[in-house]
Amino acid sequence: MAPWMVLLLLVGATGDVHFGSHVFHPDYAHPLVFDPVFYVNAYSDLGQLATPQIAKDHWLNHGMDEGRQGSGQFHSKQYLKRNAEISRAFGQDYKAAIKHFLEFGQYEHLQGYVLGGYNGRYTMSVGHLFIGASARMGGAIDSLVWGKKEFINAWDHGREIQTTINAIPYGECFNPTEAGGASDYKSPTTKSVLQNITVNANVMTSKVYPAFWIRAGGHEVNNRTRVCMRGSPAVNTVDTYNHAFSKVVTIGCAGVDYCIKYESGFEIAGKWPKYDFINLVAPAVYLTANFTNLLNYNPENHQLQPHTKSTWPPIYTTPDHKYALGVYAPDGQDTDMFMYYLTGQHDGNFANKTNSMHVVFRKRPFPDASPRHLAYVTYICVGNVDMVADCMRRLQNTLV
Ligand SMILES: *[C@@H]1O[C@H](CO)[C@@H](O)[C@H](O)[C@H]1NC(C)=O
Ligand SMILES: *[C@@H]1O[C@H](CO)[C@@H](O)[C@H](O)[C@H]1NC(C)=O
Ligand SMILES: *[C@@H]1O[C@H](CO)[C@@H](O)[C@H](O)[C@H]1NC(C)=O
Ligand SMILES: *[C@@H]1O[C@H](CO)[C@@H](O)[C@H](O)[C@H]1NC(C)=O
Repeated sequence: MAPWMVLLLLVGATGDVHFGSHVFHPDYAHPLVFDPVFYVNAYSDLGQLATPQIAKDHWLNHGMDEGRQGSGQFHSKQYLKRNAEISRAFGQDYKAAIKHFLEFGQYEHLQGYVLGGYNGRYTMSVGHLFIGASARMGGAIDSLVWGKKEFINAWDHGREIQTTINAIPYGECFNPTEAGGASDYKSPTTKSVLQNITVNANVMTSKVYPAFWIRAGGHEVNNRTRVCMRGSPAVNTVDTYNHAFSKVVTIGCAGVDYCIKYESGFEIAGKWPKYDFINLVAPAVYLTANFTNLLNYNPENHQLQPHTKSTWPPIYTTPDHKYALGVYAPDGQDTDMFMYYLTGQHDGNFANKTNSMHVVFRKRPFPDASPRHLAYVTYICVGNVDMVADCMRRLQNTLV
């Protein structure tokens, strides 16, 4: 018997935590510990892994032993850090930590993330819902796991769940973006400057000076608006908007834990071009390739239906309706025009394809350039399609 096994038996015999035997053969790519979309998007060097199978092979042959994080809800290194007895037994044997979690930890309700954050990742959970933000993405939410499935596309710094503003008609040419800029692409760092991020039980807060989507001196690559077409220069003369975007994200609202309250704050200050409108996106939600089915919550009959109206809450679901996410912005907020704006981007590999929902509050120009603070609240409903419908009904009853 190897010396470490003696140790295991001793700890197992005396402590509350259970330790394994050699007869348990776990699925090391079990959805509790591995999600191919999360994995490929979390690491800048893995973007070229073109299929879920290739990503899984990489995880099993390399990533797992290297102590990489395979899922938004579980990370072997954080599991060891959080659970001292397991850490004493396994040291840096990440594979053994995963085995322990699958054999015992999950049933003993042990958690695979460090409270308050670890190495630039910040996770909170209630029940089956896990929400993760990262310093890499300026504190933006780059993981939302429910039912062991990653919902969020974090391919580059323009996806995630994040806040952004743009000055119409300048579009991306004047576009402070919470998670970072276009040139951050898949980089482990961001041009956004994170000021503060906290996680406490079911509440996450953050404050960031967001990057401009196009760096100072850079040029637009898309051909979107009249004054910001392919080749147009950035309007911003600095890389980072030196005024804060802040947020408070709370799991639990309308009486259920599959409702998320998302409060955003924006400082409007500094040098702006002469604009027609400000679009405040609070937030944008980029979903993985699986969310292809678009529905509306109809507030008149309180049912879900195929999508028809841009002013009714949108919901994206997987084709089987097992996973769904919708956004709901209450009436009566500080806006001159409101809409839910949807985009589909169907190119790219499995970890890159995305559909998105943008909650857009539009403001007319202010009479003077004095600094202002604008604040908005949006609710995010998560679960299967029936849970999301229930969540929307509850929100409508609670908020109206
Ligand atoms: C970060 O935010 C928390 C909660 O809002 C606050 O208590 C703390 O002082 C902030 N820290 C910094 C460095 O701003
Ligand atoms: C961009 O689109 C406009 C029409 O909106 C068109 O006139 C122009 O030629 C396009 N420019 C490029 C570089 O594709
Ligand atoms: C990722 O998606 C973007 C935007 O849809 C696309 O331009 C790019 O070619 C894709 N890259 C890969 C490697 O799939
Ligand atoms: C999501 O899509 C990928 C392919 O893009 C597929 O392999 C996977 O099975 C899908 N997952 C679910 C839960 O639908």
